[in-house]
This record gives sequence, C-alpha cells and structure tokens, in this order.
Amino acid sequence: MPLFKKTSVDSEQYTPSNVQAYEMIYGTDFVSPGGREIAKQFAQRLELRPGERVLDVGSGLGGCACMLAQEFETDVDGLDFSSSMVAEASARCREKGLSEKVRFFQQDCLELEAIEEYDAIMSRDVFLHIGDKERLFRNLFRALKPGGRMLFTDYGCRERPWPWTFARYVKARGYTLHTLYEYSTIIERSGFSEVLSEDITALFIDTLRKEMRGLKDLPWHQRATFRLAWTSKLRAARKGVHRWSLIQAVKPG
Ligand SMILES: C[S@@+](CC[C@H](N)C(=O)[O-])C[C@H]1O[C@@H](n2cnc3c(N)ncnc32)[C@H](O)[C@@H]1O
Repeated sequence: MPLFKKTSVDSEQYTPSNVQAYEMIYGTDFVSPGGREIAKQFAQRLELRPGERVLDVGSGLGGCACMLAQEFETDVDGLDFSSSMVAEASARCREKGLSEKVRFFQQDCLELEAIEEYDAIMSRDVFLHIGDKERLFRNLFRALKPGGRMLFTDYGCRERPWPWTFARYVKARGYTLHTLYEYSTIIERSGFSEVLSEDITALFIDTLRKEMRGLKDLPWHQRATFRLAWTSKLRAARKGVHRWSLIQAVKPG
C-alpha cells in the first residue's frame, strides 16, 4: 500500500474548500475545464475497446476514470499525488458501484514504475504541475503496451517573453507550461510516434465564459478570488498568451 503523504498541491491549490469550489465550477467529480461532457468527447479519440486497461494520470476526484469505465467499459487505474483526492475518488467510486472496474492509488507520476501495463493513458490538465517532463513521458511510454495510445489536455502558453501578469500567475501557481511545439518535441524524444498536437484555446475561452456564469453560486468568501482568477485566465487566453493544448501520441507497436 503506498504511503499517504500531505503534499504542497494538497495544502495550497487543492485544499478541501478550493476543490469544492472547482467542482462547483467544472461539474460534479471534475477539477478540469469542461467537466464530464468534454472529458467524454476527448476520450472518444482514444477509440477505447471494452476490457482495455486505461491509466488516468492525476485522477483528482475520479470523474474521468469513472466515466471511462461507464462509457467505454474499460478497466481503469487512477493515480494521483494527493492522498485526499485518492480517498475522495475511491469513496465516490464505491458509491457508484464501480470498485470492480476502477481503482485509485496515491502516487507521484514521476515515480510510476509500471511496464507495458496499459492500452491507453489519459490525463486532464495535470502535467502543468510537472517540471520534469522528460521523466514524465519516459515513465508513461514505459507504462504503455506496444501500440498503446496516450491523450491529454494541459494548460499551455505562447512563446516567451510573456506579459508580466501571466509570468507572475504561472510562477505563483508553480506551473511549468509549454508551447505545442515544445510539447511535441519532448514527446517525440521520449519515443512516441504519431504525435498530434492541437491548440484548443478557442474551446478554453468558450468554456471559461460558461464557467464564469457559475461563479455567482460560490460561497461569498471565494467569489471575488475565483472571479479574479477566471477573468485573468480569460484575458490571457484572448490575448493568445494562455493556451489550452490537446495532445495525442502512440507508442510504436
Ligand atoms: C487540475 S486537477 C485535475 C484532476 C482530474 N484530472 C480532473 O480532470 O478532474 C490536477 C490533479 O493533478 C494531481 N497531481 C499534481 N501533481 C501530480 C503528480 N506529480 N503526480 C500525480 N498527480 C498529480 C493533483 O493532485 C490534482 O488532483
């Protein structure tokens, strides 16, 4: 059983009250833009078959992992660095009666040691937290079976220099962001082929605008902070500085 440890993402960005707010904004069981509907749309691109084994990296509250099992009849492992996310995802999974199909474990994806275990890997807006992308993609490459597919979305950026407001936001959050070109290069260098990278910032803007309507339902003490954060993201995305990236790649068979 992995050790449950308190981490800085737990204690800073993903505090229980922030996670509750994120969920009110993104939708039940999700901590990423677009909630279940967008997660399902993206997952369709993986062309999953019943019984395939899928790894959801940075599974959060478990919404995506459970959706993959329910909609595509796959067997899913969700891993997350945060022990509280894993505990919450496991409890929700049990309530949905999915414990046979989906399991969650606490792990840093940089420590993943799986070898050729998975037919597919999906991840939603997690890799922004990872500085060492070379190690990340080496691990994910090794974890996939030959012919295995990977799909993820992540916050991205345009080439530097950035406006200072954006640079300050990225630094304050501890994010490591990449342009699509940088991402594709790292992923190809890790051994993946058929790398498809798509700028989905227009969808990000659309999603942010819809989410902003929900901010009024947040508790009063969080409303102003989240409104400021969403307004800043929207402004940076409209200027083309803050991007949203969708990347697909295949491990050669
Ligand atoms: C924006 S949330 C996304 C959660 C989930 N993918 C979703 O779509 O709802 C990012 C998640 O990544 C997790 N995370 C951050 N760094 C990680 C790491 N090094 N290894 C595994 N998970 C990590 C966080 O704990 C958090 O649950």
